[in-house]
Amino acid sequence: MTTDIPPTTAPVPLRAGSRLALALAREEMMQEYHRWETDPATVVGFGARWPVSWEVFRARFRSAHTSAHYQLFEVIHTVSATPVGTAALSVDQSVNNAEFTLVIAPEQRGRGYAAEATALTLEWAFAIASLSSVWLEVPAPHTPAVSAYLKAGFRAAGRLRNAALWHGRRVDKLLFDCVPDDLAEKR
Ligand SMILES: CC(C)(COP(=O)(O)OP(=O)(O)OC[C@H]1O[C@@H](n2cnc3c(N)ncnc32)[C@H](O)[C@@H]1OP(=O)(O)O)[C@@H](O)C(=O)NCCC(=O)NCCS
Repeated sequence: MTTDIPPTTAPVPLRAGSRLALALAREEMMQEYHRWETDPATVVGFGARWPVSWEVFRARFRSAHTSAHYQLFEVIHTVSATPVGTAALSVDQSVNNAEFTLVIAPEQRGRGYAAEATALTLEWAFAIASLSSVWLEVPAPHTPAVSAYLKAGFRAAGRLRNAALWHGRRVDKLLFDCVPDDLAEKR
């Protein structure tokens, strides 16, 4: 008798909202996740200059996948189960907080998914993972990201002047954070 478990091909939904759900990140989706991250708009959105190579991405994915300090969610559509992006929490255990990052697949952008994906991740961070706060940084001119984060419950926490790059310009970097009470006040 074999004890081998066949590889999972369908995403496993963990927490559902109205249009989207969080699911476990899947190894077989690695190349898709990498494609989303190498998109030039993603590189600029993260304030970077170059995409990460496949080899580096794969090594990072595999080590993060087994880390208790980093949680990568696949964001899927609740009805079709189509993957629409990834959301990540990078935990600092010493202060019980996490940095949040979000990538919506290039072909799924502009449909209003960012705020719901962010809200679902914040709910998980506080209600399930019992984190004390979640924070992020974003280039100031990144309007879709800023709008979505504010809508989901993040609050402005600071501004680092001339600390980010944006399409050939040096721009301010904004810091946002969210604590459980911020979400309670939104309800
Ligand atoms: C940032 C990102 C997650 C936003 O997702 P999206 O699907 O493009 O954005 P949405 O359709 O959810 O829109 C978010 C908000 O921005 C607004 N918006 C979208 N495009 C806009 C634009 N070009 N100008 C102004 N506002 C815009 C939307 O109207 C919406 O606001 P609303 O809810 O008040 O109507 C997505 O573009 C992405 O993954 N980019 C690459 C990675 C990245 O930059 N991540 C963030 C790093 S901090």
